[in-house]
Amino acid sequence: MTTTTHAHITTWLLAIILLFVALGLHKKGNLKGFKIIQMVMRVFYLLIIGTGIALIIGAVHLSLLYIVKMATGLWIIGIMEFILMKTSKNESTSVLWIQFVIAFLLVLYLGLKLPMGFHPFA
Ligand code: HEM
Repeated sequence: MTTTTHAHITTWLLAIILLFVALGLHKKGNLKGFKIIQMVMRVFYLLIIGTGIALIIGAVHLSLLYIVKMATGLWIIGIMEFILMKTSKNESTSVLWIQFVIAFLLVLYLGLKLPMGFHPFA
């Protein structure tokens, strides 16, 4: 597996872990800590997109599935940003979590179907 695939997996995995860390801090009433993680998450969004674009550039056979993969990846990033935004306003996030699960399963399937890195569904 290439370094770029490793970097891509590392960045989205860390972003998801940070999402839960942020929610934990918010629950404990540590709003300052929450804000800091929220900002760090934005850096991770850029890293996820950057490594994703690098993977697309390195792809040998581009297909429509890559566009769908990118769109789903961007969708999850939007969902994570909205979850944090709604949480900071103490608003309900249930609809966002439903979307998160759907988008995550989809992006996992697409990422693992596409030919680079692991591809058990190819
Ligand atoms: C939180 C968001 C994201 C998650 C959870 C995610 C997840 C994944 C997973 C599981 C893989 C497969 C890795 C492997 O095969 O070893 C992958 C590969 C890939 N991702 Fe993402 N991704 C996300 C965002 C993005 C974005 C925003 C882009 C585009 C800008 C993108 C583009 C790609 C590309 C091009 C590949 C390689 C596909 C191939 O195997 O040929 N991803 N991603």
